[in-house]
Amino acid sequence: MNILVTGGAGFIGSHVVRLLVNSYPQYHIFNVDALTYAGNLENLKDIEDKKNYTFIKADITDKEGMDSLFKTHRFEAVIHLAAESHVDRSISDPLAFVKTNILGTIHLLEAFKSLWGGDFYGKRFYHISTDEVYGTLGEQGLFTETTAYDPNSPYSASKAGSDHFVRAYGETYGLPYVISNCSNNYGPNQFPEKLIPLCINNIIHHNPLPVYGDGHYTRDWLYVIDHAKAIDVVFHRGASKATYNIGGFNEWKNIDLVKLLCGLMDSKLGRAPGTSEQLITFVKDRPGHDLRYAIDASKIKNDLDWKPSVTFEEGLEKTIDWYLQNETWLNHVTSGAYQGYYNKQYH
Ligand code: NAD
Ligand code: TYD
Repeated sequence: MNILVTGGAGFIGSHVVRLLVNSYPQYHIFNVDALTYAGNLENLKDIEDKKNYTFIKADITDKEGMDSLFKTHRFEAVIHLAAESHVDRSISDPLAFVKTNILGTIHLLEAFKSLWGGDFYGKRFYHISTDEVYGTLGEQGLFTETTAYDPNSPYSASKAGSDHFVRAYGETYGLPYVISNCSNNYGPNQFPEKLIPLCINNIIHHNPLPVYGDGHYTRDWLYVIDHAKAIDVVFHRGASKATYNIGGFNEWKNIDLVKLLCGLMDSKLGRAPGTSEQLITFVKDRPGHDLRYAIDASKIKNDLDWKPSVTFEEGLEKTIDWYLQNETWLNHVTSGAYQGYYNKQYH
């Protein structure tokens, strides 16, 4: 079976590619990635020579390019992760999000549809999405699969748009899709523009830890390898035309999370307790900042027998250890263009 994974050089995609390549020698995994600032082949060094793996540098916004790849490799399944994924970047450049997240997704749907015509037997188009499409929760309640879409940022609006197109291709053309909407991920290989790796990097270098607003925003955190395992389960056993919410059963207010990270890092780095907390700096809030995300993951738990395998403390410890042991990776991704982004975003 030839499987296309898009965005496989990114954070979550690289963990998905590794899991599939190592677990399923009978599949051939084609990783198609444009290698934007967020894509990094260093993430996949350990599997790059495997027989059942091929990397192709290509952009999903290139319609002819996608049509031709589908014709050449006759992908029987697609696991679509390629996206612009950072909310703050979507606020300064919404169009880039429309292009990749909406237009790019449509090109993939079109290429898949025209390759298989009406004969979709044994085929699957798996679209990876986010809980941010549901908008924000108040202090109570959880997002379920039937929560109405109500996106507030250009990022979440573009992901919502792509979800709607996937579903519409299912209803209109019979395309056999499945969608999952996951909460915030953390773990090895995450680009240090997102909260957890940004704080780890800044703690290492004694730089300020920028907390937006009063820090009382809440997110539901999931270890990335548990998300990759959930994707494996949904890909193989999820019902056709279904949606699954994936979450960590693990809500944290940003300020509490940053303090927890400070404590763990102080002990790892042999610094006196309380040292890193002094770096916490409250900064201007993000416009349209969603107050709280929290997932009800009971459907995937009950129907597909998936649940997170690590506690948050275990996952954070593994994550911190990875960043401390991979300073070369961190230095590579934070040199050059990252400096320009960081200065513009935070000063
Ligand atoms: P990421 O930004 O780390 O990686 C995105 C990857 O897509 C990169 O390798 C990049 O090079 C590639 N890409 C971007 N534009 C492309 C294009 N036009 N053509 C081909 N490749 C392109 O993102 P991530 O955090 O790994 O997220 C992966 C997916 O999971 C996204 O669809 C995202 O919306 C979704 N998601 C992420 C989270 C999270 O917490 N990170 C949570 C839920 C869902
Ligand atoms: P982020 O990692 O960007 O994920 P998302 O916006 O997709 O949830 O942000 C997680 C939370 O942390 C969110 O409430 C915004 C906040 N945040 C900060 O307080 N400071 C920062 O520097 C960043 C990047 C995020």
